[in-house]
Amino acid sequence: MRKTLVSGILVCMAAALAPAQQAHIKIDTDRTIGEVDPLIFGNFAEHLGRCIYGGLYEPGSPLADAEGYRKDVMEAIHGLGVTMLRWPGGNFASGYNWKDGIGPKKDRPVRPEGAWGSLEPNQFGTDEFLKYCERVGVTPYVCINAGLGTVEEARQWVEYTNESRDTYWAQQRRKNGRQEPYKVKYWGLGNEIDGPWQLGHKSAEDYVKFALEAAKAMRRADDSIKLIASGSSNFRPGSNWIQWNQTVLEGLKSEIDYISLHTYIGNSKNNLEQFLAASQDIDQRIAVVEGLIRAAQASMERPRPIYIAYDEWNVWYRARGESEFETGKTRLEEIYNFEDALAMGMFLNSFIRHANVVKMANLAQVVNVIAPIFTNEKGLFLQPIYFPLAEYAKQRGNVAIDALIVSPTYRVGAREPIPYLDSSVTLDKKGGYLYVNVLNKSEKLDIAARIENITGTLGASIDVWQMDYPDLKATHTFGADKKVRPSTKTIVGSGNKLNYTFPKHSLTILRAKVS
Ligand code: AHR
Repeated sequence: MRKTLVSGILVCMAAALAPAQQAHIKIDTDRTIGEVDPLIFGNFAEHLGRCIYGGLYEPGSPLADAEGYRKDVMEAIHGLGVTMLRWPGGNFASGYNWKDGIGPKKDRPVRPEGAWGSLEPNQFGTDEFLKYCERVGVTPYVCINAGLGTVEEARQWVEYTNESRDTYWAQQRRKNGRQEPYKVKYWGLGNEIDGPWQLGHKSAEDYVKFALEAAKAMRRADDSIKLIASGSSNFRPGSNWIQWNQTVLEGLKSEIDYISLHTYIGNSKNNLEQFLAASQDIDQRIAVVEGLIRAAQASMERPRPIYIAYDEWNVWYRARGESEFETGKTRLEEIYNFEDALAMGMFLNSFIRHANVVKMANLAQVVNVIAPIFTNEKGLFLQPIYFPLAEYAKQRGNVAIDALIVSPTYRVGAREPIPYLDSSVTLDKKGGYLYVNVLNKSEKLDIAARIENITGTLGASIDVWQMDYPDLKATHTFGADKKVRPSTKTIVGSGNKLNYTFPKHSLTILRAKVS
């Protein structure tokens, strides 16, 4: 048996797949990776299609409250365990003038919107967003316009939201009904500036020049803010994505707290195992950027901690226009199926396996636009991807454990062998619970595993949460969203070992009391 190390997890590759598939998960709770930062259960709301208007915000709707916020959507967001909301884009951010979205609503301008080609009515702006975050109980994350915008606009935006003294922009905020500062802590230094599709796309060097000045000016407005640099979103051949991150990190290492990564995946070849092999890209992108962070910090006497913010991620391939950014037509209303729900486990397992460096992640997006929640004017339904997201979010604040996973593997083209069982393990130290998250990527094979906790017992009663549905393509719709949902049961454990068979194409979370 050959052994290889994949992202901190030791995978032993069986030379050939035997008919009885056997796996082994060995847990040593002393081998910790880092805290599962609550912010990895962040989400994202962009002015795009029906995400804001008709999603979060629909004044006049019987489903909305006095401020126009959809109550059913707020409840669904709450159930999803969302911790953070990124706004206003996305691509939209790179053409957005935040001053259009403040003050009396009747005076706000309607503008042609450059990223997606629609008309922006500006009825939902900074105050509406920040009050929404307070209502829903999520941390706001505002992305500045580093495309067509200016450094001074970004600085003034921080002054508007965070200034407590009697300055011009603080006065404007007060005039608009908000006395106390909002204290917005997280600020993105632009969105996908590496992508040629982005309004105001720049070379890495030009981006660094802009972002450095923006960071300096924004910090002078409030030096307690945390800044997220625009890392890689463009992994197309020839994009030289490593170079982008290296230049950004080298140039901004004294100013930033996070560097972002974006990844969307798809199953256009209709091949489940190939689709779920994307974990190799995600693991690799994280590992490479982590290395680049270390390299940038190597020469610094007192390096500033820098983490990865995976601030856009999801499955997205069906609801794309002829051209990806076909203006005005692309509303990105993906209808998700069961196999997409499996992909949620794949992404989250990877983030948890890298809990030392992935300290923020934002599913793109929250409602209607590539989203787990889908509305019409009469109500909403929950897409299959909703359920794993909600369940994993319960592990926020746990400690990620570097478990040993021995799994049968498969191959996709020339890629390294891929373990069928894709796993992450976390420990809730306070409650004394161990969580074993396992995605079985195999389309055909059930895989029996021996799970062993070498640092304690596993408790007599083990909770099982599982998504296991025969039809990979099963979807939900209005009035019919009960089909692709998790089942739960309790199984009996004894001592420190447990045998469990993970059904083909399934996602399972085992929760055991540990002593
Ligand atoms: O989430 C949809 C779009 O995908 C975002 O606007 C952009 O940042 C990314 O390309």
